[in-house]
Amino acid sequence: MNNGTPKKRVAVLISGRGSNMSALIEAAKQADYPAEIVAVIANKADAGGLETARAQGIPAHAIAHRDYASKHDHEAAVSEALHAAKADIICLAGYMRIISPEFVRQWEGKMLNIHPSLLPLFRGLHTHDQALEAGVRVHGCTVHFVTEGMDEGPIIAQAAVPVKTGDTPEMLAERVLPVEHETYACALALVATGKAVMKGGRTVFSD
Ligand code: GRF
Repeated sequence: MNNGTPKKRVAVLISGRGSNMSALIEAAKQADYPAEIVAVIANKADAGGLETARAQGIPAHAIAHRDYASKHDHEAAVSEALHAAKADIICLAGYMRIISPEFVRQWEGKMLNIHPSLLPLFRGLHTHDQALEAGVRVHGCTVHFVTEGMDEGPIIAQAAVPVKTGDTPEMLAERVLPVEHETYACALALVATGKAVMKGGRTVFSD
């Protein structure tokens, strides 16, 4: 509890190492942070982030999409875990699944994603290669509400890094990642406190 306001209960969905997940877990350790991480769910049994979360005492579930006959069945299992955890907000953090429109609608305004580019530039995969290919001098990351279009939802927060001469995609990824961690924690706090809300397809900020 903080100022008498209950903390928002957050589930983090991952597919891999979960460094953004770890950043959210770290941020949520602060007494005045407005959210707590109550569950981690991975769609791959070998996602490294599962062990990291468990080591922090956070319930972590592997719900492997390969174990289900359809996307619908897999999402039903994920939904069950989310409801069991009483999650208020979902943070996608390197979650490599396309989410069905039904699931997106159920969590409208309550599901966030981090994308490693300054949207609307460079949607999809290999964003650092895309940035180098385009020759931009500034690159970065975006946290946005999830809507039906991939990497299209209303932007909550962004942060930029320089692109330097001689950069490789790996060098850019390494520069962007710590900025992702800070930006995600900041964006989640904005949503958890209600200072950023999704209305009419836009993010509306107060305070
Ligand atoms: C991050 O760059 C994230 O923006 C992208 O996938 C990567 C996941 O990294 N969607 P991690 O699992 O959070 O370390």
